[in-house]
Amino acid sequence: MTVLVFLDPAFADGRIVDAGKPALMATDQGATRGDGIFESMLAVDGKPRKIHRHLDRLASSAQSLELTIPEPEVWQRAIATALAAFADDGGGGAAGGGGGGAAGGAEAVVKLVVTRGVEGSSAPTAWVQVSLPPEAGRLQRENGIDVLLLDRGYDSTVAERAPWLLLGAKTLSYAVNMAALRHAHSNGADDVIFTSSDGRVLEGPTSSVLLAHAEGEGGTRVRRLITPALDSGILPGTSQSALFGAAKAAGWELGYGPLVPEDLFDADAVWLISSIRLLAPVNHIDGREIGTSDVRAALTAELNELIAAT
Ligand SMILES: Cc1ncc(COP(=O)(O)O)c(C=O)c1O
Repeated sequence: MTVLVFLDPAFADGRIVDAGKPALMATDQGATRGDGIFESMLAVDGKPRKIHRHLDRLASSAQSLELTIPEPEVWQRAIATALAAFADDGGGGAAGGGGGGAAGGAEAVVKLVVTRGVEGSSAPTAWVQVSLPPEAGRLQRENGIDVLLLDRGYDSTVAERAPWLLLGAKTLSYAVNMAALRHAHSNGADDVIFTSSDGRVLEGPTSSVLLAHAEGEGGTRVRRLITPALDSGILPGTSQSALFGAAKAAGWELGYGPLVPEDLFDADAVWLISSIRLLAPVNHIDGREIGTSDVRAALTAELNELIAAT
C-alpha cells in the first residue's frame, strides 16, 4: 500500500497519483543522475513526527545542492493529503499500520523527494510518498543488530575541504550506502558503521551512531550519551538531536566525538538510531559483544521512553 502525492503549483494541496502507474519522466535527473534530495520521517497514528526538523534538513540539503524547493507550508499540505489518503486506504489502522513499535500506535513512512527535474527544464520534481514501514526494522528494534565496521575511504576533515561531495546532505545518491548494507548482509551482519580513513567512527548507511556509559547507582548514577562529531562528514540525524534534547532534560550527560572504534567496544551500549527504525541496539560489532545483554536492554528501554516522548 503506497500513496503518492506530487507537489504541483496547479494543486494547492498536492496532486494524488496512482502509485501503480508510471509518474516520472525517464529523463528526470533524479533517475538519470541521482541528482536530488530526500527525507524519511515516521508518522504515528497519521501524525508526522519531528516534521520541522525534517523540513529544516530538507532545506539545508537543498541549499547544498543549489536546488530551489517548495516552501514548508506546501510540503505540509501535501503530507496531510498523502496521510489522509493512506488512512482512507486502510493504512491508519493498528492492523495495517505496522503495529505498535517503540513509537506506539500505527506507523507509516513519509518520504519527501525532490529531484533537479526533467533534463532541460529548471523546475524541480517533488513528491510525497507514504507507505508501511518495513517489518525488518521493527524486529531489529526488538532483537538488536550485528554490525560490521567498514572504511568509507574519506578522512574525517574531507567534508569541509570538499563540499562538492555533499557529505552532510541527504542526497538521492544512496547506491554506495545500499552496497555497504549488502556487503554486511553477505557477511552475516545486519548493518554497518562507517569509519573514516583516519580511523574515526562516522555513521551507519541510514542511521546515526550513539554510545552510552552508565556508572554508579541510585542518586549517584551518571549516564552519558555520546555521538560522533557532527562536522566529521556525517548527516546530522534528526533522531539523534531530538533524543539528545530529551536525554538532557532527563539528566543524561551529552558528548560529541571524535570517536574511535575502541570507544564503541568500551561502551555499555551502542545503538544505530534513525527516524523509521528508531533505536536499534547493537549486539556485536565485528563479532565482539558490546556490553552485556541486560545492560543493553535496560538502557534501550530507558531511551525508548525518551524517544516516545519527543
Ligand atoms: C546517512 C544517514 N545518517 C543518519 C541518518 C539518521 O537520520 P534521522 O535520524 O534524521 O533519520 C540517516 C537517515 O536515513 C542517514 O541516511
